[in-house]
Amino acid sequence: MSATEQIEVRRLGVTDVREQLDALAAVLHDCVAGGASVSYMAPFSPEEARSAFAGFVAEAEEGRRLILAAFVEGDLVGTVQVILALPPNQPHRAEIAKLLVHRQARGRGIAQQLMKRAEAEARAEGKTLLVLDAVTGGDAARLYARLGWTTVGVIPGYALYPDGQPCDTTYFWKAL
Ligand SMILES: CC(C)(COP(=O)(O)OP(=O)(O)OC[C@H]1O[C@@H](n2cnc3c(N)ncnc32)[C@H](O)[C@@H]1OP(=O)(O)O)[C@@H](O)C(=O)NCCC(=O)NCCS
Repeated sequence: MSATEQIEVRRLGVTDVREQLDALAAVLHDCVAGGASVSYMAPFSPEEARSAFAGFVAEAEEGRRLILAAFVEGDLVGTVQVILALPPNQPHRAEIAKLLVHRQARGRGIAQQLMKRAEAEARAEGKTLLVLDAVTGGDAARLYARLGWTTVGVIPGYALYPDGQPCDTTYFWKAL
């Protein structure tokens, strides 16, 4: 990607999200292949990635979550989700999940743009509090700290990397 190439970040509508299903799944597959701890274990096939994203897309169609995507030259290279459907006593809160950028597109501020847009979309949905978790000390945790998220604390050995190694998790929150 050259410096002149434009990054477009947008919330995917109902039709859009179905059309982009394969591309979204490809980004998830690439991230897990790269060792990201994002719920899935190795071996993780392209079909499993598609099936996982089909579930997210179904929830997006029901208005239970938002799916945003980042495009470079028309190609989908990154994504993030805003989970809106939480218990009835937390109508003001949302969760951020599945921030994923293809390995070939990293280090250019795409995740930062996705996060800023996700926060704006959550605010537009009337949300005033966001929560997320990330691998402790990882690339994403650095990004969240840079974007003004507050660290709650670390839970040791909370999840596994795809290869089965344990990883610590840090919880963050941000008031909008
Ligand atoms: C975490 C992840 C989403 C970051 O994506 P990214 O698009 O590379 O992130 P950014 O480009 O915004 O930031 C990455 C680095 O590039 C730097 N950068 C380079 N050019 C930049 C620009 N133009 N604007 C902003 N940052 C830029 C950032 O400062 C940052 O530096 P750091 O690593 O020293 O903190 C990506 O590594 C990923 O998908 N990982 C696997 C999945 C995962 O773990 N997701 C998180 C779940 S919580």
